Amino acid sequence: MRNNIIHAGADELTYEIREIVEFGEKLRAMGVPIVWENIGDPVAKGHLVPEWIKDAVRETVADDKSFGYSPTKGVLEAREFISKMRNGTGAVPIASDDILFFNGLGDAISIIYTYLNRGARVIGPNPAYPTHSSAEAAHAGLHHLSYNLNPHRNWLPDLDDLRNKVKYNPSISGILIINPDNPTGMVYPKKVLEEIIAIANEYDLFLISDEIYANIVYGDAPMVSLYEVAGNVPTIVMRGLSKEIPWPGSRCGWIEVYNRERDPVFARYVKTLVDAKMLEVCSTTLPQRVLPKIFSDTRYHDHLRNQSLQYKHRADAAYAILRDMPGVLAPKPAGAFYYSVVFDDCILSNRQTLAIADKKIALFIEGAVAGLPLDKRFVYYLMASSGICVVPLSGFNSELAGFRFTLLEPDDAIFEHTVRTLMEKIKEYLHS
Ligand SMILES: Cc1ncc(COP(=O)(O)O)c(C=O)c1O
Repeated sequence: MRNNIIHAGADELTYEIREIVEFGEKLRAMGVPIVWENIGDPVAKGHLVPEWIKDAVRETVADDKSFGYSPTKGVLEAREFISKMRNGTGAVPIASDDILFFNGLGDAISIIYTYLNRGARVIGPNPAYPTHSSAEAAHAGLHHLSYNLNPHRNWLPDLDDLRNKVKYNPSISGILIINPDNPTGMVYPKKVLEEIIAIANEYDLFLISDEIYANIVYGDAPMVSLYEVAGNVPTIVMRGLSKEIPWPGSRCGWIEVYNRERDPVFARYVKTLVDAKMLEVCSTTLPQRVLPKIFSDTRYHDHLRNQSLQYKHRADAAYAILRDMPGVLAPKPAGAFYYSVVFDDCILSNRQTLAIADKKIALFIEGAVAGLPLDKRFVYYLMASSGICVVPLSGFNSELAGFRFTLLEPDDAIFEHTVRTLMEKIKEYLHS
């Protein structure tokens, strides 16, 4: 090449949640049936979409208007519906103009970091959801900056770590939270949100709260959205249809911008996001037109409640199996539909293995694990010996060795069998 055409952040773009599939497919081709526990798609796991929701989609698709472009910011009825919903809660007010639709939150995340000033950094939680951490790192051309979530304290954020990093790194301009969190299932208590808001106030930062799992909460404490407590801090709340309807194939998510006018720099940044969407024309029309019909239906509340109860049931069942397991820490999630398990410090080595009867597969694994992070090594052995495909925590930018599985399996017996197998394989691996 005449010039270097490689983006400065090219090496930062990783997404283990899908990358691991390539390895799983190789094993499958060698005859190992794979149990996909890697990706957060309830539909792929057999979740049935209620008929009344499908009726709402059918009715909307029958209207020719659903085939057209929508305004840059999104369908007005959908934005008005959301602003009305929020303004009824007594929280920071929001106008329909402060809502911007995207083709899924994946699109929103990409645009938010792409159009941030190159030197401005957003610090996020660790373990880190890779769409955020990769996009933020790629934007800066540097590794993502993160604050620790502590598995010894139910994954609550280490606020001293956050405060120190903000204090000593003046390029940090924003704080990201994911609430409920992926991959840990932690739900931020109100008090913790208030402390994060205090840090933002003190250092003049903006906040991003990815709340795509906001309606999947089943712990003891209620979900508190950042818009309820943000006060005067410039804030972006992210929501979407992928997980709660669930309709990930709709590619529909949106941002809600609070306190835009409180800071002219923040207002200009938000205008850039709208301008960027305008160049793209707009986001997909159909799901935006369906949204008010689904959200205003009296059956939606029950739908969300039943869904959360199912995830709670599975979180309880998994916790009962994993809680006293020596060698790992397995805090029970309180929201979203993931469960993260962490190995004790220094307990993993590159000599541990799992028995694999098929010689060809055993040989293939031995070659594949060379040089891998120790938790990924376990994950590869696990997949080869049991077929269970989970995601190593090293794939979430984490220094903690562990893995994430999902609470999506709808069949109780299969779910329990999967978790029991995980437990047995951990035991076998640690004692090998
Ligand atoms: C925390 C979080 N944010 C955003 C996304 C992306 O969602 P979407 O389907 O709207 O692109 C996911 C998907 O798993 C997620 O877990």
